Amino acid sequence: MVMIFNRCKTNIMLVLFTRFMPLSLSTQVVCFVVTPVRIKRIMSRQGVKGPQALWLLGNMPDILRLQRAEAEKDMKTGDYDTLSHILPFHTRNCQAYGKRYLWWFGWEPRITLTEPDLIKEVLMNKNGFYSKSKIQNRFVIEVLGNGLVTTTGEEWALHRQIVNPAFHQEKLKAMVGAMVKCASSMADEWEMRVQHDGGCVELEVGDYMRHVTADIIAHTAFGSSYEKGRKVFDQQLVLRNHLGQRALQRFSALPGYSLLPTPLNIQILKTQMTISSSLREIIQSRRDMVNQAKNASHGIDLLGLMLTAASEETALKGGKVQFGMQALIDNCKTFFLAGHETTATLLTWTMMLLASHTTWQESAREEVTRVCGRGNHSIDTDMLSKLKTLNMILNESLRLFSPLAIQTRQALRDAKLGDLDIPKGLSLHFPKPAVHLDPDLWGADVLEFKPERFADGVAKASKHPSAFIPFSLGPRFCVGQGFALEEARSVLAVVLQRFRFHLSPNYRHAPYLQFTVKPKYGVPVMLECL
Ligand code: HEM
Ligand SMILES: *[C@@H]1O[C@H](CO)[C@@H](O)[C@H](O)[C@H]1NC(C)=O
Ligand SMILES: *[C@@H]1O[C@H](CO)[C@@H](O)[C@H](O)[C@H]1NC(C)=O
Ligand SMILES: *[C@@H]1O[C@H](CO)[C@@H](O)[C@H](O)[C@H]1NC(C)=O
Repeated sequence: MVMIFNRCKTNIMLVLFTRFMPLSLSTQVVCFVVTPVRIKRIMSRQGVKGPQALWLLGNMPDILRLQRAEAEKDMKTGDYDTLSHILPFHTRNCQAYGKRYLWWFGWEPRITLTEPDLIKEVLMNKNGFYSKSKIQNRFVIEVLGNGLVTTTGEEWALHRQIVNPAFHQEKLKAMVGAMVKCASSMADEWEMRVQHDGGCVELEVGDYMRHVTADIIAHTAFGSSYEKGRKVFDQQLVLRNHLGQRALQRFSALPGYSLLPTPLNIQILKTQMTISSSLREIIQSRRDMVNQAKNASHGIDLLGLMLTAASEETALKGGKVQFGMQALIDNCKTFFLAGHETTATLLTWTMMLLASHTTWQESAREEVTRVCGRGNHSIDTDMLSKLKTLNMILNESLRLFSPLAIQTRQALRDAKLGDLDIPKGLSLHFPKPAVHLDPDLWGADVLEFKPERFADGVAKASKHPSAFIPFSLGPRFCVGQGFALEEARSVLAVVLQRFRFHLSPNYRHAPYLQFTVKPKYGVPVMLECL
């Protein structure tokens, strides 16, 4: 403890020193004064204005205050107009400055854009002008390390090349068994609770969905190392909560804040160290098994597939290790956190929607029982690929309640974007609900739950081909998209096969934004067996 504390203190001195002191005064002036002033001038010349901001803290205090106030209120059940509820700062600025406006994420200037053409151009990134936002990435790195989500440039390209094969369609087929098995054991537990309570039980499904998705990712990512993997995962959740706590602290956006030796910061550092050393052990023991020829391969779970791709890469480069231990560790962390809560919230909102719109629940069930059979009949990939109604429902759920509500990028150089001149250093902010709930793109019924809009696929669902972006677009689109959708289909198929449910009168409709968009008080449903 004392050691960590001391190391931490030395770190701060070092970082404050390297970051600010030797950076000559002139560099500091450029970073925190000249560049922001230049960007503000260039944008203002183009008519892009925005709210007043504090120096270094930017609009953060305002954003947090508005979000906190909104999060105190409930919405009316069945009201899917969530934009002003989860992004009140955005709505207020749109009213005052129009749909493009300039604001400050800490000391980083940002333009908010909601036009699909512009968003698409940035995400496709044909000229390589855009990268991840530096300041935002610094927060994400603390949870995920330098894995696929956070690396940039050539380093990212290598990560994508190594990780991609693990998510190939035919690899996924082998994982569906584990997905269905985890879902079935959840369903067995539900069935016991229903029988115990005499035929109908009130059940909060959010907790179960977080649990089943954790179980699934632990099995599919760590297979034979499941027990150890699961422990690492629990530590990651602890870490994430600590980081969430810190993000709510007023001065957390200040440069160097994370290095102050506060009790919370020390806790964070300790947890990060535990996670890394446990993952290193897991990876090393897999490698040892193969090296000592006890096992023929690294395994067919996500970790094993990644290890195989990494060692092939090393062989190809004549033994030169490019994708080392740290890269492996950080991508394990990434699988867990990038893949867990996103999918859990997708499942939770979809359960809420199915519980509210029981006619759609019936037609989804009719399809599931026709294709997969009734009761606890076994389910495989071929069956899942035939569930068209369920796919439409999932996409409508992703449209109304996109788990990742916001994406950001930053301009690496001066660029032209549509009619806009984007100066180097400006970051770009895309609030997805503003696109997914735009009546000009989706029609007057945009706020209604209508899975039939996806009957002829995504391209025909709206007036713009990239108005639906839950998994992003372009070279950095979600590597886990196929995995997440297969997982959601598996869990929902098992649930629909065995249960009927409707929304509990105790449900409080309160979507709120914390990493993902989730129901603040969970989703209680009334559940009975078929
Ligand atoms: C419903 C579930 C999911 C949603 C809505 C979702 C959404 C997204 C989005 C929007 C991005 C782009 C982020 C950005 O570039 O700013 C992304 C990237 C990513 N996702 Fe997912 N995701 C989901 C599930 C998963 C799963 C299950 C995994 C893995 C097990 C995963 C792993 C990743 C990774 C590694 C990236 C980074 C890709 C890159 O930058 O090359 N995601 N996801
Ligand atoms: C080695 O392979 C066997 C069977 O394929 C498996 O049960 C065992 O867990 C593997 N060992 C490791 C360390 O992955
Ligand atoms: C599910 O099916 C298996 C055999 O396929 C059976 O052993 C088990 O009892 C069934 N569980 C329930 C709850 O019906
Ligand atoms: C649902 O969305 C996914 C991802 O965008 C897409 O691949 C799939 O074809 C869509 N399915 C339907 C029925 O719209």
